[in-house]
Amino acid sequence: VRLPQPGSDSPPQANLPAWESHPLHSLGAMARSERNTYLCRDCGAESPKWAGRCPSCGSWNSLAEEEAPKRRTTATVNRLVEIDAAGAAVIPTGLEELDRVLGGGFMRGSITVLGGEPGIGKSTLLLQALSAVASQGTDVLYVSAEESAAQVRSRANRLREMPASLWICNDSDWAKVEAAVAEVSPSFVVVDSIQTVSDAEVGGSAGSLAQVRSCAQRCVEWAKGPSAMTVILVGHVTKDGSLAGPRTLEHMVDTVLSFEEGEPLGLRSLRAVKHRFGRTGELGLFEMGKKGLRCVGDATSLFLADRRTGQAGDVITPTMDGRRALMVELQALTARAGEAGPRRSCQGTDCGRLSAILAVLARHAGVGLGSTDVFVSAVGGAKATEPASDLAVAMAVVSSLSGLPLPEDLVVVGEIGLGGEIRRPHHLPARLSEAKRAGFGRAVVPASAELSGTGMDLLRVPDVASALSACGILPAQRRVRAS
Ligand code: TYD
Ligand code: MG
Repeated sequence: VRLPQPGSDSPPQANLPAWESHPLHSLGAMARSERNTYLCRDCGAESPKWAGRCPSCGSWNSLAEEEAPKRRTTATVNRLVEIDAAGAAVIPTGLEELDRVLGGGFMRGSITVLGGEPGIGKSTLLLQALSAVASQGTDVLYVSAEESAAQVRSRANRLREMPASLWICNDSDWAKVEAAVAEVSPSFVVVDSIQTVSDAEVGGSAGSLAQVRSCAQRCVEWAKGPSAMTVILVGHVTKDGSLAGPRTLEHMVDTVLSFEEGEPLGLRSLRAVKHRFGRTGELGLFEMGKKGLRCVGDATSLFLADRRTGQAGDVITPTMDGRRALMVELQALTARAGEAGPRRSCQGTDCGRLSAILAVLARHAGVGLGSTDVFVSAVGGAKATEPASDLAVAMAVVSSLSGLPLPEDLVVVGEIGLGGEIRRPHHLPARLSEAKRAGFGRAVVPASAELSGTGMDLLRVPDVASALSACGILPAQRRVRAS
């Protein structure tokens, strides 16, 4: 903006009020929402307010008022009561363990990333889930940028009969993927994987930050656009387990699923790391077999399949993984310590907690293990690291020490405080209902627990000493007292 030059031969500034020509004033005028603008008939420059002289070319009396154009942007505002909630429908896949993690199924118009190491079974999982969706007549487009159509077909042959509404596209060129989506106009799109597709217009190689972001952005548009496609992206993970490519991918999508080879019995576990439509932390368990992935609904009976009952040092405790209760078998072994001092070893349990538990046993239950090696292990690679497993660890150790087994239909749950008191763990009803389902009839629980209708015989114990004596496993006692 050219301001009037002082000392030029133009008419004197006094023609205008002093504040009119002040640059700061004109800024203020622009900030006000003036409806109309002023156009200079000489140079065409636009001014938000009238002035005697064009601020741009300096012509005098050239500004003419121009009616403001009608605003073209319109907002979509609806009464909430008039919105059809069916638009937010959840579509079950029929794979119960996947539906459990998703909270019922895929949300229509959502975008999900499925992450996992190569070979874990991402393509298999999606082919199984989406062929089930397609068999309801829903059009599903599977973009397989990593494998040939024949490879996908040969995998599919192992799984189930493929429905006619499952479409496959084997291009990694994004323009062709777009064309395939336009041709099929599917309700579901799978891009396997987002790191192997590339858009020639973007430049850079497939998997680069710019490529991943650009292709994922288009997928977000499919999902959030009027067609509300449900989009699932397969994402590779790096060695440290995070999604390869930009972190922004995680921010762009609604749901991030992580598929891992879980320790317990070599099962594959699926979790939602991020989930905009439901809770995270749900665990889905699968087993890879000859006909693809099998849902493992009853993990407890798998875990306890090889259990030998009637063994001293053996205790079952109901643990939680996310919101899923699993029975875990704990084994303890005690042995006289060598000269180097007592050893403590933990497999799948917390070693720090074991030290505290042994100290509590010595102080509050009269069970000294100062010259005893203690080994504790959760069987089958399971984990029992929560405080809720404290009492079970203590009872396993004392049972091994005394050589007295616990009843085989008993589960033990409770956190041990440093004063020897037994505290309530979270999700106690869920733990006990899974124990009951798995066929256990008795449970040692904290005295403070408010429980009813568990259908189990409850042995309520206020502290560790009373738990040991109620179960009759203190070394001095020789008789197992059934509760
Ligand atoms: P895949 O789904 O290709 O894994 P990802 O897409 O995560 O790389 O499958 C992984 C492995 O599963 C592969 O090594 C072959 C095996 N597999 C089976 O054992 N049984 C089956 O029925 C199928 C389809 C695959
Ligand atoms: Mg794959």
